[in-house]
Amino acid sequence: MESENTKITVKPNGQFAIQGPVTLVDIEGNEIKHGPRFALCGCSKSSNKPFCDGSHKG
Ligand code: FES
Repeated sequence: MESENTKITVKPNGQFAIQGPVTLVDIEGNEIKHGPRFALCGCSKSSNKPFCDGSHKG
């Protein structure tokens, strides 16, 4: 059986696109639910942090 690796792609506008098994937690260690593919905000403009909401485009 082939194991699934986690892939993190650094996008030009600051996003980090995440694909594969990963546990996302906040600063207190609480798990943050997410789908199988998601993008983290790296530009600090998102109003839905830690996720990218597309605000980096504006
Ligand atoms: S990277 Fe910050 S809103 Fe998309």
